[in-house]
Amino acid sequence: MTILLNNHGYDNESWRKELCLQLPEFPVKVFGEHPIDPEEVVYAMVWNHPPGDLRRYPKLKAIFSLGAGAEHFVSDPTLPDVPVVLLADPAVARDMSAHVLYWVLTFHRRYGEYRAQQQDRIWHRKPIVPTDRFRAGVVGLGRIGTEVARRLGGFGYVVSGWDASQREIEGVQCYSGMEALGEFLDNNDVVINALPLSHQTRHFLGGGVFAAMRKGSFFINISRGAVVHDDALLEALDSSHLAGAALDAFAEEPLPAEHRYWSHPNVFVTPHMSGATFPSSAVAVISNNVRRFEKGLEVYPLFNREAGY
Ligand code: GLV
Repeated sequence: MTILLNNHGYDNESWRKELCLQLPEFPVKVFGEHPIDPEEVVYAMVWNHPPGDLRRYPKLKAIFSLGAGAEHFVSDPTLPDVPVVLLADPAVARDMSAHVLYWVLTFHRRYGEYRAQQQDRIWHRKPIVPTDRFRAGVVGLGRIGTEVARRLGGFGYVVSGWDASQREIEGVQCYSGMEALGEFLDNNDVVINALPLSHQTRHFLGGGVFAAMRKGSFFINISRGAVVHDDALLEALDSSHLAGAALDAFAEEPLPAEHRYWSHPNVFVTPHMSGATFPSSAVAVISNNVRRFEKGLEVYPLFNREAGY
């Protein structure tokens, strides 16, 4: 009846404490810290576990992710045949939306330029379009993209979204399919990437996509770096086709010191912090799923092995 906890060596303790509080009936053993009898493990709660490890527990009933992404499951070809439950923590989606709002405001209201003006004690109000004329487009309308779109709309921005398949979100003009991508891109002042990384989306945002965005528009990445073709983005920024980019995720992390993003005048780099997962809220979501699973009820969201997310 034991939970195996493996947060890739980081901060296992706060997860362990929260699990003990919220699922007191299950002893929690930390991978690499506690002696574990493989026969006792019924649930594994993991982030970047060593590939192959999850096969070692013959009584394993389900696997739960400790983070939103699914790459650690994609990179383990030996996952046992039990349900793999991803983490859909509403607190993470909310915080990522706040991160996006920060950059939308920065680009729309020109806060970076005011900071620069302040250095020279310049009092000069810059022209902007009204909020209800500034158009924000979210690429990828999964759980996080949908929340971002909804919340930006709540601040009065004109919000649209694009996804490979048809979606409906109140107050958001939804586009779907490759044939609608160009029109969607051309209709926005800022494009936000919320696509999950999958076999289909690797380098999906390349030269054609950036060229189809409006001249002078902005780009925000909150998903995974590998969805973006870096050379294509840099070219769009160098040629001033795009006016700026706020990037929180990179193909290689930490972003190598010599990478051009660090020094590009129109790129803002943040160290993959837009949606930190906090054990207090995440464990509430996971425990709810465990209790449902124990009762034979559906758990959500399940990792789709074929799609890779
Ligand atoms: C962070 O990027 C996560 O997937 O939780």
